[in-house]
Amino acid sequence: MTTIGIIGAGEVGSQLARAAVAHGYRVVIANSRGPETLSYLVDELGPSARAATAADAAEAGDFVIIAAPLKPANDMPVEQLAGKTVLDTNNYMPWRDGRFEAIDSGEKTVHELRQEQLPASKVAKAFTHIQAPRLFLSARAPGTPDRHALSVSSDHPEAVELVTRLYDEFGFDTVDNSPLSESWRSGPGQPAWLAHAHQTRERLAANLAAARRIRYPVRG
Ligand SMILES: NC(=O)c1ccc[n+]([C@@H]2O[C@H](COP(=O)([O-])OP(=O)(O)OC[C@H]3O[C@@H](n4cnc5c(N)ncnc54)[C@H](OP(=O)(O)O)[C@@H]3O)[C@@H](O)[C@H]2O)c1
Repeated sequence: MTTIGIIGAGEVGSQLARAAVAHGYRVVIANSRGPETLSYLVDELGPSARAATAADAAEAGDFVIIAAPLKPANDMPVEQLAGKTVLDTNNYMPWRDGRFEAIDSGEKTVHELRQEQLPASKVAKAFTHIQAPRLFLSARAPGTPDRHALSVSSDHPEAVELVTRLYDEFGFDTVDNSPLSESWRSGPGQPAWLAHAHQTRERLAANLAAARRIRYPVRG
């Protein structure tokens, strides 16, 4: 049985945990306030799930999902994530998380910054343009003509393969939008992000191609 470590137990982390358990995974999930605050969630998830610290969730996971915003001061368990594939659901929202000059200037994407914070991990941008409740509502069996697609971006082909398999199990096709430097194409405000999970593979590929860089005003 494969274990998924999940760091972040809010809207996305808890919904990904539900999907993972429903598809036969074991889940070890963490938030920032401590495992004792997650008893309501693990009770709901059942015996395949337990709550832990972020470091323990990272350690336990065969692969790990980070469902928490990127912070300038790295708050992720770098050592325990080393050597692992890390799926990052974060979206860059400066009004929520503060501004990062490297992103605003177009020098780097938020997921390249996550990769820099986790140099020994294989970071993949995943599950960023689907609203949490849609993980179940938009899922379709493989081969369904209007099956929705999600994008993945990574500098590591094996991470793209893992996400592609997981998307398929969860009910979605994949469009590979690698490397991480291209991941802005599915970011907030872009056509692919605005359409959420209501996109076939062809429509998502077209929306990614139609993306235009958002330039935030440079601070004086
Ligand atoms: N909501 C959506 O539908 C959606 C869809 C796609 C992508 N996203 C993106 O996914 C990320 C998470 O979104 P969300 O809506 O789930 O946010 P959320 O509801 O605010 O949850 C964030 C979670 O991250 C935890 N966290 C923060 N720092 C942590 C740390 N250092 N260690 C462990 N846990 C930590 C928080 O713990 P505490 O609760 O203890 O503070 C909380 O459980 C965001 O970047 C968001 O933009 C969201």
